[in-house]
Amino acid sequence: MKDFTFSTTRTIVCEAGAAGQLAGYSRAAGASRVLLVTDSGILNAGLLDSVLPGFDCTGLRLGIFDRVEADPKSATVEAAVHAARALGAEMVIGFGGGSSMDVAKLVAVLAHPDCRQSLEELYGIDNVRGPRLSLLQVPTTAGTGSEATPIAIVTTGETTKAGIVSPHLQPDTALLDAKLTLGLPSKVTAATGIDAMVHAIEAYTSAHKKNPVSDMLAREALRLLSANIVSATHRGSDLQARSSMLLGALYAGQAFANAPVAAVHALAYPLGGHFHIPHGLSNSLVLPHVLRFNAIVAAPLYAELAECMMGGDCLSGSEVSKTDTLICWLENLIAELGLPNRLRDCGVTEGILPHLAADAMQQQRLLVNNPREVTEQDVLAIYRAAF
Ligand SMILES: NC(=O)c1ccc[n+]([C@@H]2O[C@H](COP(=O)([O-])OP(=O)(O)OC[C@H]3O[C@@H](n4cnc5c(N)ncnc54)[C@H](O)[C@@H]3O)[C@@H](O)[C@H]2O)c1
Ligand SMILES: [Fe+2]
Repeated sequence: MKDFTFSTTRTIVCEAGAAGQLAGYSRAAGASRVLLVTDSGILNAGLLDSVLPGFDCTGLRLGIFDRVEADPKSATVEAAVHAARALGAEMVIGFGGGSSMDVAKLVAVLAHPDCRQSLEELYGIDNVRGPRLSLLQVPTTAGTGSEATPIAIVTTGETTKAGIVSPHLQPDTALLDAKLTLGLPSKVTAATGIDAMVHAIEAYTSAHKKNPVSDMLAREALRLLSANIVSATHRGSDLQARSSMLLGALYAGQAFANAPVAAVHALAYPLGGHFHIPHGLSNSLVLPHVLRFNAIVAAPLYAELAECMMGGDCLSGSEVSKTDTLICWLENLIAELGLPNRLRDCGVTEGILPHLAADAMQQQRLLVNNPREVTEQDVLAIYRAAF
């Protein structure tokens, strides 16, 4: 067996309704001033209604920064850091999807009184120096797994996103409260659920850091996500399905935090950057085509995942034929979830595909993890197939 190291979020609380006890968790962490980072959609959906009363009857000071947007910009991170400093925050709570949780991670670093780094100095791998404020994450989508990853993604220009990867970004606590996800709109449920599935699939085939713990988590993530994504999308009030999705997304996050994602994500980012296609949907649009490209080397692993996702009974034949079956099954799933499946249906124009391919090649941080080497010509061919 190859040597490996596995790290994850230290404390995981999984309890429907647990968000009502956030004040207690803050006090237990020794904080008296807490900044909660979220977005206005979450505030307007009333998701903080169960949280705020808990803070009213304690001596804690709670500040709320609710200006995070989807695919947060660096200016948003700076504004949230400013709010945390003004409050004298000792703890940061990320409350929302990946966008809010990623901003919360960076606030925890940059608003620490001893921090001498700027946001620009953090981009890339292992550039963050500690210490940071205490950090608790409450996911309200079952998707990014950011509550269990040492990663934050920021929109840095008009069309570009950059990642910050550091052990200092690994949250202290993840609090999974499935009740918060009952009202997640069906399109967001479907797209963020596919994002979580891609995390598990790409972790399982990750070229350099694939490891037995990530493998175990990826397989269990895919069992939970495959069995529940349709119910969660079309019968949103099904608490059992919602809980399974949230746990599956956490497992997938834990898996890819230690066995990083690859070409699906590398090709998804330019779609988000240029056309503001949500992260999960960008992944979904290229997923079957990247798997088809990778199959020549990754079929043995995809065949194993096919059994987790579809159950052993309906599968027979060679690894290649199981992989073909899996890819068709994923295409049908994407249609059943009501997600578009062609780039042209999401505002992408054919003429821009070479430009997107050149942008995707910039994501070497991700491409190096792909099981099959990818050239710019390959990327262009995959975009054309997805068009
Ligand atoms: N840190 C990581 O490891 C990691 C991994 C993958 C993606 N990301 C990043 O995460 C971001 C995407 O996050 P996301 O897909 O979770 O979406 P998001 O955080 O951008 O949220 C999408 C929308 O859903 C709404 N919403 C969220 N929860 C809701 C709920 N329970 N009820 C009603 N509405 C709700 C929000 O208001 C928002 O409008 C991107 O920036 C992506 O690059 C980070
Ligand atoms: Fe993702």
